[in-house]
Amino acid sequence: MATSSSARRPIGIFDSGIGGLTVAHALAQQLPNEELIYFGDTAHMPYGERSADAIRYYSLRIVKFLLDKNCKMIVIACNSASTAAYQVLLDFFHEQALFVNVVDPLVERVAGEQFHKVGIIATKVTIRSGIYEQQLRSLQPDLRIHALATPLLAPMIEEGYIHNNLSQAVISQYLSDPGFGDIDALLLACTHYPLIRSDIEAFFSGSVRVFDSTDVVAQQVRNRLARYELLSDQRRHAHRFYVSDYTPSFAETTQLFYGEKIKLEHFPIW
Ligand code: DGL
Repeated sequence: MATSSSARRPIGIFDSGIGGLTVAHALAQQLPNEELIYFGDTAHMPYGERSADAIRYYSLRIVKFLLDKNCKMIVIACNSASTAAYQVLLDFFHEQALFVNVVDPLVERVAGEQFHKVGIIATKVTIRSGIYEQQLRSLQPDLRIHALATPLLAPMIEEGYIHNNLSQAVISQYLSDPGFGDIDALLLACTHYPLIRSDIEAFFSGSVRVFDSTDVVAQQVRNRLARYELLSDQRRHAHRFYVSDYTPSFAETTQLFYGEKIKLEHFPIW
């Protein structure tokens, strides 16, 4: 069947900043025929410290921007925004595009494994929402869960502090929480944490299965596009990467998150 012109429309993807590039990179790898338009709201980062109302307001504006660029699907590549704004985005825009968040694919992946006790680490806003616990328990009611806000991790990673003594001390301090003593799986419920995944696995000496959102989200994007016959057979334009505030430091850090050099464009929507 020929690919329709609808299918050749881009996928919009947004995050509070550049952490969502971990998800964008997984999408680019797994779906090379898809064109991505990324928006990082660096002017308002970190979302993890903001109120749910503020995150909803920012997300609505960003999605409007992406829909104006004719996106067929919006990927909310931010746990904090997925937690606070997914429902309101569906309410406003479900007729204009498909929506994928980063919470549902991770929950489905982990609940399928029948663990006894899982740990969750994320920003304050994600932990406060209780969304992972609610969704996991709705699929596996007897699952034991320990969730902990780990607010130092995202800024630490963003500053490039990974795989060194300082980052290992911070990781160790958080993960030594007694609630994690008997977990058999840990969910990295924040866009930044895939970058310290190997340090986290090393902390548990391989005895805990560690999950992040990158590949499971890319898989869900593929499945949803396929179901709606919206998978593209050919990419027409290069991916575009926008940020709402631009500093040389954001530009430098992008490589850390995306794994290769990209050109960041300043688009001041505020
Ligand atoms: N992108 C955010 C998340 O996944 C982490 C960074 C922030 O707090 O803005 O929750």
